[in-house]
Amino acid sequence: MQFPPELDPEKIPAHVAIIMDGNGRWAQQRGLPRPMGHKVGVESVQAVVRAARQLNLQVLTLYAFSTENWQRPPLEVKALMGLLKSFLLSELETMVANNVSLRCLGQKERFPAEVRETLDKVIAATAGNDGLILNLALNYGSRVEIIDAVRVVAGKCATGELVAQDISEEIFAAHLYTGGMPDPDLLIRTGGESRLSNFLLWQASYSEIYFVDTLWPDFREEGLVEAIRVYQGRQRRFGKTGDQVQQS
Ligand code: FPP
Repeated sequence: MQFPPELDPEKIPAHVAIIMDGNGRWAQQRGLPRPMGHKVGVESVQAVVRAARQLNLQVLTLYAFSTENWQRPPLEVKALMGLLKSFLLSELETMVANNVSLRCLGQKERFPAEVRETLDKVIAATAGNDGLILNLALNYGSRVEIIDAVRVVAGKCATGELVAQDISEEIFAAHLYTGGMPDPDLLIRTGGESRLSNFLLWQASYSEIYFVDTLWPDFREEGLVEAIRVYQGRQRRFGKTGDQVQQS
């Protein structure tokens, strides 16, 4: 991909996070079983990861499976597990070759052993890479993530490693699954719904949010470029006035 002329290379977001919604509807609109939507959705994942590398993003976070998604029909959950495993296996070489580092946000213990082992293998094989960080949010829920962090921080207070008064936003954020990474600058949700669905609630405090009707299987490289174009047209004020931001 040539660098898109409509984008400003100086204002590329460091971290883009995506709620990949609309696979089921995409399939249903075509009279296909829902898992077919997820299968084609994997092609969008591949296209968006490739584009993220080419645009020089630092971090791409994809919401692939929520803590609530276990409630879906067993066949759909099984299909998603299968797709995840085959995606990881088929992309391993490409990730290594392209300096991508795969991380998992979420409690992967609940995944079937073969999926967990594949995940661990890819995470280990790409751990030394210092290019794009690809976070897959898997068995992820933002409230559970915050509770996990509270438990660790409270444990450190109990042992005296931390003093409650010293807990700052930075210290707390370092205990989230995204510790050490920048917060998302841009959060995209495809599929026409306008909600966060328990995704990155702490980290998205100042993210620019972009809701788009496109169903995830139709959201490819062009979709990401358009989202970033809209993002670049917005003024991020972080609580300041527009005039103050312009002066700085
Ligand atoms: C939401 O669409 C999507 C999901 C719950 C799963 C997303 C998974 C993939 C894109 C494929 C697997 C991922 C990787 C990283 C290999 P939905 O089913 O809720 O759509 P609907 O709202 O139209 O029903």
